[in-house]
Amino acid sequence: MRKAVKVHGNEALGFRYGWAGVVEGHTVRLDLNNTSGILPRGGTILGSSRTNPYAMDGGLDKIKETLAVEAIDMLIPIGGEDTLGVARKLSDEGIANIVGVPKTIDNDLSATDFTFGFQTAVQIVTDAIDRLHTTAESHNRVMVVEVMGRSAGHIALWSGMAGGADAILVPERPFDIDEVVAHLRQRHDRGKTFSIVVVAEGATPAGNEVTATAETDAFGHTRLGGIGVFLEEEIRERTGYDSRATILGHVQRGGTPTAFDRVLATRFGVAAIDAAMGGDFGKMVALRGQDIVRVPLGEALAESKLVDPDLYATAETFFG
Ligand code: F6P
Repeated sequence: MRKAVKVHGNEALGFRYGWAGVVEGHTVRLDLNNTSGILPRGGTILGSSRTNPYAMDGGLDKIKETLAVEAIDMLIPIGGEDTLGVARKLSDEGIANIVGVPKTIDNDLSATDFTFGFQTAVQIVTDAIDRLHTTAESHNRVMVVEVMGRSAGHIALWSGMAGGADAILVPERPFDIDEVVAHLRQRHDRGKTFSIVVVAEGATPAGNEVTATAETDAFGHTRLGGIGVFLEEEIRERTGYDSRATILGHVQRGGTPTAFDRVLATRFGVAAIDAAMGGDFGKMVALRGQDIVRVPLGEALAESKLVDPDLYATAETFFG
């Protein structure tokens, strides 16, 4: 916003609650004053929602109307595969001039090394694991930590590695409960009296999805949850070790962003304005190594980024 307004003299309009704001024409003028001081704040001052205009009656017509009424020249959607999936369609259909910005704690967009939000979530989970270590050790318990990650286990893998987890279970690799138990036994046989297991919400035992609810959102995603409690019970039954599950849930999406995420978000924002002002639409800004690059939205959303098998293998060295 700052670059668009200060350097290019543009007017900047924010849409409230993601695509819902574009559908309903719910806007707020953004200026240097009402956007100052937001750097250390998490979340979004504009609000967010899981609105899918393509799943709504007349959603698209309303979007066209808003863009015309507000005389929008270019749109910069910020989000993950769902938000940017809508952006891609609008761009492909010639409805809006779009430059996307990748933001999700899941870090599952393949075109960018990192999305902003991810590192903050990893830090929150790592801090939680550190705390759980203390109480696990005091009480001789197996602590199962359930973290976010529907189809990609980046948060589980990174936080599990950083927190020294004794097993890390990710959606990409359906797990064998006997193997998990074997790791724990091995450790306890060595004299350790506690263990930490980190599990992504989308991890599955023997191909069965453990869901807390059959509810789906506007993009068709099932609300996951329940794998942590399932594991807690299985581990207790199979080993006799006292076990507890901790479900970190939305704590992972709140609070102060890390310095890395603040810098990344700032770089993405400026790069998105540079692309838009240069008329380079239909792109997503992305981090590749140290550089910010532009990737066609179609390419950016072609497939999800899953955990790197080599990184998982490194983590596995420390299991048990
Ligand atoms: O897409 C980000 C994410 O945090 C996922 O990791 C998680 O499964 C989901 O959102 C939770 O969605 P909600 O906030 O709608 O419960």
